[in-house]
Amino acid sequence: MRLTHIALDRYRNIRDAHLEFHPRFNLIVGDNGQGKTNLLSSIYWLSTLTPLRSGRLRNLITWGEQATSVRGRSEVNGLYHDLEVRTNGERTFPLKEGHPRSNNEYFGALSVVSFTPSDLDLVRGQPDIRRRFLDRAIFNEQSTHLEVVLRYQKALARRNTFLKERKSEQLIRAYEATLAEVGARLIMSRASYIHSLSGVYSNILHGIGNFSGTISYKLGVPVVDPLSSTPQVIQQQLMSYWQQHRESDMHRGFTQRGPHNDDLSLRISDRSAKDFASQGQQRAIVLALKIAQIESLSERLQSRPILLLDDVSSELDQSRATQLFNFLSRFDGQVFLTTTHESFIPLNSERKMWRIVAGQISPVEDHSLRL
Ligand SMILES: Nc1ncnc2c1ncn2[C@@H]1O[C@H](COP(=O)(O)OP(=O)(O)OP(=O)(O)O)[C@@H](O)[C@H]1O
Ligand SMILES: [Mg+2]
Repeated sequence: MRLTHIALDRYRNIRDAHLEFHPRFNLIVGDNGQGKTNLLSSIYWLSTLTPLRSGRLRNLITWGEQATSVRGRSEVNGLYHDLEVRTNGERTFPLKEGHPRSNNEYFGALSVVSFTPSDLDLVRGQPDIRRRFLDRAIFNEQSTHLEVVLRYQKALARRNTFLKERKSEQLIRAYEATLAEVGARLIMSRASYIHSLSGVYSNILHGIGNFSGTISYKLGVPVVDPLSSTPQVIQQQLMSYWQQHRESDMHRGFTQRGPHNDDLSLRISDRSAKDFASQGQQRAIVLALKIAQIESLSERLQSRPILLLDDVSSELDQSRATQLFNFLSRFDGQVFLTTTHESFIPLNSERKMWRIVAGQISPVEDHSLRL
């Protein structure tokens, strides 16, 4: 899978850009605040229809303008797809092959895995950051997962409103059935995804960090092991859990526990990574998670996802940077990298390079290729 070219129209500080990409490495060089992350985030948006940095859609539009769009052409196993995403700041409009599409019809022609400095929050941050990582990763492999997440959120909000308004038990119970049905699907998907990642993750971590660590699923509510159960059983258990806690939930005015409290537990030497991993170990953990995600996705797609690496070389020490670039040179797919200094990126073949200054992007003659 690869992105052959892209066109940006009034996207953040990039007013107008048309770029043709290299099938392997694409390097974007620029000083701080010039628009490197913005360019990567436009690719992320084109792929996922979600902004890379959470925030309002309006923020994607160049200040003072009314709309923005990103167009691109992808190639997947020999087939080309024309993709476009537009927004007026209120809604997102995806188009494929020139026609408006639903999200589900749109997805599949461009999958990305991103790695940015803020990903360290996966280790240090609150559970919601890990849940979002998890749900986005599952959604990359299985686009219906997004709908499950949204349906759960909606049903949860409904139950919370009913609790707050002290609606009849009968009504609340009816909603619990829906919530539990969607909640069970959420739990099953998360459990099987984490399980499929865990072996690969530990191996990679050992390879790059030379220490042992595990990932596992920490359920927000006590249910039986989802891997050896069925959605119906999980649904029943969720329903009886919420029934038992209805009174106390009503007292507090919200659903205190559920899959919305799930977490991805990261441990090193059987201790919480959040509390005990050093900075360098945290970086290795994030890198191992992402590489495991890429491996899993590649297998699922039968094609390599596109990698977006924002400013990673400045985040990693020498030996981990070497490990990363070893992985990248073996990784047989398309990669986009940003950096403030070209010398940070030890790749000198199969690449194309651009310089970005105040949102203006121009190709750089690559002398290293001529040697
Ligand atoms: N909607 C917008 N319209 C115009 N400019 C914007 C918009 N959103 C962000 N910017 C500006 O774009 C500039 C470039 O941001 P970006 O994060 O891409 O820089 P960067 O090159 O990645 O910098 P760094 O090396 O510090 O990470 C910032 O100065 C920011 O204020
Ligand atoms: Mg940046």
